[in-house]
Amino acid sequence: MLQRTGEDYPSKNARESLSDPIELTRHVVALPGLPERLQGITLVHLSDFHRGNGNTDPVIEATIESAASLEPDVVALTGDFVNHRREDILPIVKMVSRLRAKHGVFAIPGNHDYYADAMLLESALEAAGVYVLKNCARELQAGLWIAGVDDLLEGSPDLNRAMEGIPTDAPVILLAHNPNFLYRLASETRPILMLSGHTHGGQFAFPMIPPKLICLLHLRTRFVHGWYRQGSVQMYVNRGVGCSGWGVLARRFRCHPEITHYTLTAESLSG
Ligand SMILES: [Fe+2]
Repeated sequence: MLQRTGEDYPSKNARESLSDPIELTRHVVALPGLPERLQGITLVHLSDFHRGNGNTDPVIEATIESAASLEPDVVALTGDFVNHRREDILPIVKMVSRLRAKHGVFAIPGNHDYYADAMLLESALEAAGVYVLKNCARELQAGLWIAGVDDLLEGSPDLNRAMEGIPTDAPVILLAHNPNFLYRLASETRPILMLSGHTHGGQFAFPMIPPKLICLLHLRTRFVHGWYRQGSVQMYVNRGVGCSGWGVLARRFRCHPEITHYTLTAESLSG
């Protein structure tokens, strides 16, 4: 079920595989200031499981199994674990608890988690060994930090609290469910790799209705999928795994679930 692509950094447009349901995209990311001993550290990013919407459990389980097989150093989960039902929280936490990483598994809530019960999700994730970064940060290894903010639409994101205690020149991996949070980073000067979800890549790729238009009209965002840059911030928007919407719209069309794999380096390997 896993489709590997060789998307080059910093491509803005991921190459799609239309034959398999799950796509793995690999990226080498230059993060200035990354300590020498952390060169080559790997990170796997999953988002938007939306457990409980449609019959997507087999795809969620296959995605998690494939992600775990990559044996990353860090795992980042960027919200919308469930669609809207409280009873889906414990099952999805049980599924993601299979993920292991040398430096930890980290998560933030998305807007749909609030429609269910974000507090229950947070406590269940923590009980399963997942660090929830709601407006806080941890030092992954000396010289590299990972931070996360609460959801932009339903929570109370606080960048200052999240970044408290992080040296102003230290590289940071920042988890923010909604890519529109990028606008809150306009004055940031430190090197930041921001990881987001929320858009599902538009969820549908109809020939006559481009995903960009769906995201603009439905989510009020100009971000769709892939890489974006603003000053010292590089943002990647993951297409997610599950789907939102009701009835016949609770599905994806030519917009595949995604596992994103990053290898961090202080130097650009693209040249
Ligand atoms: Fe979502």
